[in-house]
Amino acid sequence: VFHTVEEVVQWRTQELKDTRSKESIGFVPTMGCLHSGHASLISKSVSENTYTVVSIFVNPSQFAPTEDLDNYPRTLPDDIKMLESLNVDVLFAPNAHVMYPQGIPLNVEKQRGPFVSVLGLSEKLEGETRPNFFRGVATVVTKLFNIVMADVAYFGQKDIQQFIVLQCMVDELFVNTKLQMMRIVRNSSGLALSSRNKYLCPKSLKIAENLYRGLKAAEIAIKGLASGARLSRSEIIDIVTQIWAPYVDSHDFKIDYISLADFKTLDELSLVENTREQQPLVISCAVYVTDRENPNTIVRLIDNIVI
Ligand code: PAJ
Repeated sequence: VFHTVEEVVQWRTQELKDTRSKESIGFVPTMGCLHSGHASLISKSVSENTYTVVSIFVNPSQFAPTEDLDNYPRTLPDDIKMLESLNVDVLFAPNAHVMYPQGIPLNVEKQRGPFVSVLGLSEKLEGETRPNFFRGVATVVTKLFNIVMADVAYFGQKDIQQFIVLQCMVDELFVNTKLQMMRIVRNSSGLALSSRNKYLCPKSLKIAENLYRGLKAAEIAIKGLASGARLSRSEIIDIVTQIWAPYVDSHDFKIDYISLADFKTLDELSLVENTREQQPLVISCAVYVTDRENPNTIVRLIDNIVI
């Protein structure tokens, strides 16, 4: 008779090991249009597990009716080539009907069926402009986890709030897949790789590199704090906005948010001190970048640094 979740899970894990040997399955969920950022997650999984499963599914429930679901880049033949070269064992590429047997209208009022919500974390930051985004992510990741039954799943720090929301979901719903966060892959100038970068002309991509420059300046200031010294939230935010000011003035950048928050709770911090007790914090941002060649194209880019 077991009375705790841990006991049941331990027994179940042992049972699986005994009957299925010591093989492990790594899993990398994606929406395709794969780049080196995805490849870093996949290579890590291939190196750490007996088998690696990758999924490619552009998940309708994490898009708002106003967002770019139909225009989201789809490059399956190239993606498959990359997965082959990385020695991936299984690609799971379902269609929307497979993942949502009841159908999934983009209009949230008309949606039916079970959903997974992580309240408290999902409404912040990205959730402010994208109210149902994390409900869609947590729901599809739950479905994928139940299908793949992986030992470990790999996610990028690039979407840090996604990782924090999913970690909370895994912890509190006793999900048996462990999560691993992988560092952000950037180009040589610091721009975080993203499927959305391809919407920007070379000049605007150059300007977008300043996203990271701004965050990096804040990181340097925080890391350089003498023992006992402190910086207020507004001082830190000012460091970032000063670097971005020329691009805001020229209408290349429109700032959505700059956040200085606790890594686990995403609660905003009013002060950063150099003490040993300082919990890991995350400085993150979302910026609308207007394309220089085609000003009708506005691309929302996100980035972050964990300190
Ligand atoms: P997608 O945007 O395709 O990203 C898949 C994974 O790749 C995510 O974990 C993301 O953080 C990671 N990633 C993207 N760019 C990266 C970079 N430059 N460096 C490191 N990792 C990077 O995130 C999603 O898909 C979806 O929300 C999904 C989890 C698949 C659910 O639909």
